[in-house]
This record gives sequence, structure tokens and C-alpha cells, in this order.
Amino acid sequence: MNIVIVGTQWGDEGKGKIIDLLSEKVDYIVRYQGGSNAGHTVVTNSKVYVFHLIPSGILHKRKICCIGNGVVVDPQALIKEIQDLSSAGIYVNQRLKISSLAHAILPYHKILDQLRETKRTHKIGTTGRGIGPCYADKINRCGIRMVDLLNPAIFREKLKDNLKEKNEIFKKVYRHPGFNFSPIYQDYLNYGKFLSRYICNTAALLNKAIRDKKDILFEGAQGTFLDIDFGTYPFVTSSSATAGGACIGAGISPVKIDKVVGVVKAYTTRVGEGPFPTEFPPVFGKFMREKGSEFGATTGRPRRCGWFDSVMVREAILLNHILELAIMKLDVLDGLESLKICIAYKYKGRLFKELPQDLEALRKARPVYKEMPGWKGTTSKIRRYQDLPRNARAYLFRLQDILNTKISMISVGSSREDIIFI
Ligand code: IMP
Repeated sequence: MNIVIVGTQWGDEGKGKIIDLLSEKVDYIVRYQGGSNAGHTVVTNSKVYVFHLIPSGILHKRKICCIGNGVVVDPQALIKEIQDLSSAGIYVNQRLKISSLAHAILPYHKILDQLRETKRTHKIGTTGRGIGPCYADKINRCGIRMVDLLNPAIFREKLKDNLKEKNEIFKKVYRHPGFNFSPIYQDYLNYGKFLSRYICNTAALLNKAIRDKKDILFEGAQGTFLDIDFGTYPFVTSSSATAGGACIGAGISPVKIDKVVGVVKAYTTRVGEGPFPTEFPPVFGKFMREKGSEFGATTGRPRRCGWFDSVMVREAILLNHILELAIMKLDVLDGLESLKICIAYKYKGRLFKELPQDLEALRKARPVYKEMPGWKGTTSKIRRYQDLPRNARAYLFRLQDILNTKISMISVGSSREDIIFI
């Protein structure tokens, strides 16, 4: 079976843990979009692993992990991740495959990402990892792909062309001195040499795996509302974070995808700027951020927190055709007096039960809430659904009802073991 895992909110839903759990049952795990802006955290035997590029399935022996053509790869960050894993006793060896068609992030992408933010009136709050500028070069047809790093003559030509244009922009628009050819050229040839053993035609590999009836898990990074098309544009990332991105970003036909599983936090968080209708007021927001350890896995930035927004999640279910949901961090809601679920928005006297596409409406929308009583005690040691406090079950039942989608997993803590299967 070929399954896509997607985030149904603004990322950080806890996909890493679900991917790690489901990885046990598949043969291949594939990242299909984004880059080292992502941070997937897995906690096992009190050890914390944070993955930025390598699929978290690498923790399982004998699983093949692919970085698909849709990913933008920062070779330096990837090499560090490989080395950090090997220091922790996890060897990627023949199990890591990098698409030769994936685009490489160069130093000028990262600096441009950061400089652009300083010039924007409405800042996006990017991770500064060069993601947007690298995808822009891909679409502009001047990007440098992983395969280019293996061919010194081609790489030289492409890098020269890029620097000729970009250095003019850096100097004239941003008053930045620009970049010298030689250090980048040498460094990236070295990265290419190191990574050459992993670089291959991953689309061919995955299609062969499908022919051989192997099981594949496609791991989405970020979330539906950071998707370049369907997210809260322009406060989004630069890739297709919805399930459709798996086909383009891995070279797989849509007819080969069997199921999409959505990952959703029991409340809502967002890093960076942009509208957030159910955001908590500052004092309660700070309390919940600390209660849920809501700080970015990549940048350490504090995440904004808010109530569960079923209008958004329903839209995510529709866009991704989600048949099953994993609800994450239920335990963070333990001990609250009452809980709210947003069931609609009000804007200019109109009631919106569907997500408005006009960002201004979303920015000014007032959430309409259904209030529910909270529960006492802690849920993190519970392993069976029927043992959850009655009000916690009522909350989950209400979510399932509003979303009209089956909840198949409930996470009640950060460890692999802290999960309830239904
Ligand atoms: P970029 O992807 O670095 O260009 O950042 C664009 C927006 O996406 C910013 O609001 C980031 O905070 C957000 N973002 C990017 N990656 C992640 C992620 O993995 N989790 C949550 N937010 C993210």
C-alpha cells in the first residue's frame, strides 16, 4: 500500500512521530517537497532525533529512505545530518537515496531569503534556509540540480551564469558584496563527491518498487495551509505541501497512491506571520506554548497557539482526500477548564462554514466557537481509548463528527509509545 502523510494545519502537527510509527510497516519512505525548513522530531528511548531532510524512517533498519526530486537540498545541511546520525550509531549507507533531479540550495539562496525579508512590508517570517529563492530558480530554469554537482564542467558553467546575474542584484538592490565563484565551486564539488554514492534516479527506483508490490510511505513536510497554492498565500512556503505534491515530488502517478492520512494537532499552532483566526490571546498563548513546548524544531522560534479550527481542517480533508486522521498532543489539553472548537467564521455579517479564499476575510474573520468542558488528570499514560477521561472522549467524538473523518490514532505524549490506536 502506498500512503501519503500530510499536515492538515500550518505544519508542526507531529508528522515525524506518525511517519516513524508507520515506517515499520513499509519498505520505502520518501520526502517529496520542502527542504531543511522542516523539522521532524522523533523521541525514542528518551533519545530525541530531529530530522530536516532525511526521512525519519531511517531510524528503522532495512528501510530505504528517498529524498525526492521535489525537495530542495542544502548539501551542507544534509551531510551534517548524515554525520550526526552516524555519531548516534545510525548508518544511512545504502539506505539513503537522493534524486539527481532535486535542486541544490546555494549560499546565495539563503542570503537572498534573509535579505528579502528585511525589505518586505509584510514579512513572511521564513526560516531563512533559502527555500523560496531556490524554488524560484527552479521555476526560472536557472537552478542547479544534484546531478550537476557531479559534473565539474556543467556545474562551473551554471554557477558562473548564476553569479553573473545574482551578484549584480546583490550589489545594486541589497548593497551586499555578492559571492566569489571559487569557494562555492570547490565546496559544492566536494559536497557532490561526498553525496555521489546516494544520488540516483529515485523515480525509477520507486516505480520499480511499486511494480514489485513494495509499500511506500510519502512524508509531507509543512502543512496544507503552508502550501504554495492552497495555503494562506503569501504567508506560505514555496512548495506543494498537499498530498498532490507527492506525485510531482517523487515521480509517481496519482493512480498509485492508495490512501492519505492526515496529521492534526488537538489545537492549532503556526510559526511565522500570517492570519490565524483562532489564535489565543497573549497570556493564555504563552501558557499553552510552554505547556505544549511549542518552539520550532528548525529555528527554535516560539509557535503561535490557538484553538482547534475545524473550518481549516475540513478544507484540508477535502483538498487531500484524507480518509484517516491522527490527532496529536491531546495531553497538552489536560487540565484545562474548558475547550473551544471553531466551527465557522463571521465576516461582514456573513457566516462562513468554508474557508474564505480572500486573505483579508480570513485575517478579519471572527471565529464562531463550540465550547466544551475540559478534563482533569493526565492522559499521557493511557493506551486504550476507553480509558481516556469522559470529556476527552467527548472532545474527540465531537471533532470526528464535525470533520466527518475517522480518527485512527491519538498521540498523548512525545515518545513513540505514547499513542492510542483505534
Ligand atoms: P520558508 O519555508 O522558510 O520559506 O518559510 C515560509 C513560512 O513557512 C514561514 O511562515 C515558516 O515559518 C513556515 N514554515 C516553513 N517550514 C515549516 C515547518 O516545517 N513547520 C512550520 N512552519 C514552517
